[in-house]
Amino acid sequence: MANVLITGTNRGIGLALTRHFIEQGDSVIATCRKPSVELRACAGVRIEAEVDITDSASLDALRERLGRTRLDVLFLNAGILESGGLADLDFESVTRQLEVNAVGPLRTLVALRPLLRRGSKVALMTSRMGSIADNTSGGSYGYRMSKAALNAAGKSLSIDLAQQGIAVAILHPGWVSTDMTRHSGNVDPDEAARGLIARVDALTLETSGTFWHADGSVLPW
Ligand SMILES: NC(=O)c1ccc[n+]([C@@H]2O[C@H](COP(=O)([O-])OP(=O)(O)OC[C@H]3O[C@@H](n4cnc5c(N)ncnc54)[C@H](OP(=O)(O)O)[C@@H]3O)[C@@H](O)[C@H]2O)c1
Repeated sequence: MANVLITGTNRGIGLALTRHFIEQGDSVIATCRKPSVELRACAGVRIEAEVDITDSASLDALRERLGRTRLDVLFLNAGILESGGLADLDFESVTRQLEVNAVGPLRTLVALRPLLRRGSKVALMTSRMGSIADNTSGGSYGYRMSKAALNAAGKSLSIDLAQQGIAVAILHPGWVSTDMTRHSGNVDPDEAARGLIARVDALTLETSGTFWHADGSVLPW
């Protein structure tokens, strides 16, 4: 049984990940800003509320509450998507997406790093939209920039944490039917969660730092 901590678990993919890790017998610490009815209904989960990934004080308080808990899997899932084409670019929105999607996971990792041990795994929920090679449609400046920055952080983390025996997966979940996509995705959150967990299970120090689709294919930077 692994200790798994997931961010952004009150809905969407984070909620599905929480349910699937519990189903396979793992011990889940589900963090969120405010728990939802659905999250509260997950039997056996440890809910840690008031955790905002942009707020170091809330992350330090979480680490204090966790004490000496060892984290086998740290799943940095929380994120936001705001539209932003060239014609109506809102720089506050660009900055907000960088703060939540790129800085937030790094801030969380740094706060919780003392709880990671040799053999622990870190999963970063990025997006194919952060791939520069794969960008054929333009637009979405803030989201694309933030996820490309997260990919860069993930690669550095895979190098810097290797000496401690900690592996890092950089993951795209597919186009998933959640609030983020206004439920237009072609993958349901359960299917996405199954694929994402399979990638974490298969992750080794040798494959650390790879950018994967949940279906197992390797994505271009
Ligand atoms: N859905 C897709 O097709 C898709 C594709 C590629 C990548 N992704 C990535 O997958 C992850 C999950 O997406 P989703 O589709 O499940 O989206 P979602 O349904 O909108 O859920 C986003 C989650 O992130 C949390 N969150 C946002 N800002 C936060 C903050 N500052 N502190 C703590 N939690 C915060 C939200 O909590 P609140 O309820 O408190 O806002 C919510 O739990 C995101 O990183 C997203 O970029 C999704």
